Amino acid sequence: MNPVDQKIEAHYHKEGLFEEILARLENQNIDLNHIQRSDIAGVDEFHMRGAAVSKELAAAIDLNDKKVLDMGSGLGGPCRMLADKFNCTATGIDLSPEFVRTANALSKLVGLDDKTFFIQGSATRLPFEDNSFDVVWTQHVQMNVPDKQLFYGEAHRVLKPGGHFLYYDIFRKNDGKIQYPMPWASQESLSFLIKNDEMAQIVESLGLNPISKTNQTQAGIAFFTSLLAKVKQHGPPKLGLNVLMGDSTVSKLTNLLAHLEKGLLVLESGVYQK
Ligand SMILES: C[S@@+](CC[C@H](N)C(=O)[O-])C[C@H]1O[C@@H](n2cnc3c(N)ncnc32)[C@H](O)[C@@H]1O
Repeated sequence: MNPVDQKIEAHYHKEGLFEEILARLENQNIDLNHIQRSDIAGVDEFHMRGAAVSKELAAAIDLNDKKVLDMGSGLGGPCRMLADKFNCTATGIDLSPEFVRTANALSKLVGLDDKTFFIQGSATRLPFEDNSFDVVWTQHVQMNVPDKQLFYGEAHRVLKPGGHFLYYDIFRKNDGKIQYPMPWASQESLSFLIKNDEMAQIVESLGLNPISKTNQTQAGIAFFTSLLAKVKQHGPPKLGLNVLMGDSTVSKLTNLLAHLEKGLLVLESGVYQK
């Protein structure tokens, strides 16, 4: 791993993550022999609006029986949803060995380990042949990647001609100063934000054609406002993103919400075709 990736990996690292998830499930008296995807939904999608937004994103194209790659797959929730709902074969790649171990173990726990596969590695050096996936999917990852040309170049390279690239991401709106910590970076040196039109320029110059684009900012603001109100009233959820972000969860989420409200950051999803 290069020094930047090492720092990113350390930022996300959570020792004994899978065991902690199991313990939290047991504390809720959930039978570990009959775990459903819904039981782990609070923790296995590490982006704003969790499972709801992945479901929306998935409705944008025909995903049935497709071979999908998730770049920066985290704990693997989106891959499991695609395997379960659309019979996809979903491969995830992530920098974090602990996230990859947890993602594979969670897939086994819910009986989706025959259709979802998680490997450790960098999205900027994909260990896959050219033109090998029908769909490349990525959510809330590129903010951690300094070399956008490499990141989007790899997505384009492994995508089959006619295949789709789906993204859901956080972008800068302008050159205003961003204050940290954020969920993806406790300090500025881990964060490599670009504007959404800069991203569009890169992917279009690679040969991907824009199909659709959705501004998700207001939906993200509404989600965080209601989540933070719930946490204030009832305390942290029994199995939520607090497991991944620890003691600084509320300050990271409050900070991100403030930047979205002030118009310094935007949330956008979209679809491109090769
Ligand atoms: C905010 S999490 C999102 C995880 C997942 N996409 C999701 O939405 O549930 C960001 C993830 O990107 C991964 N990541 C960051 N840089 C990466 C890189 N260069 N290659 C692969 N994964 C990376 C991190 O390890 C982390 O799991």
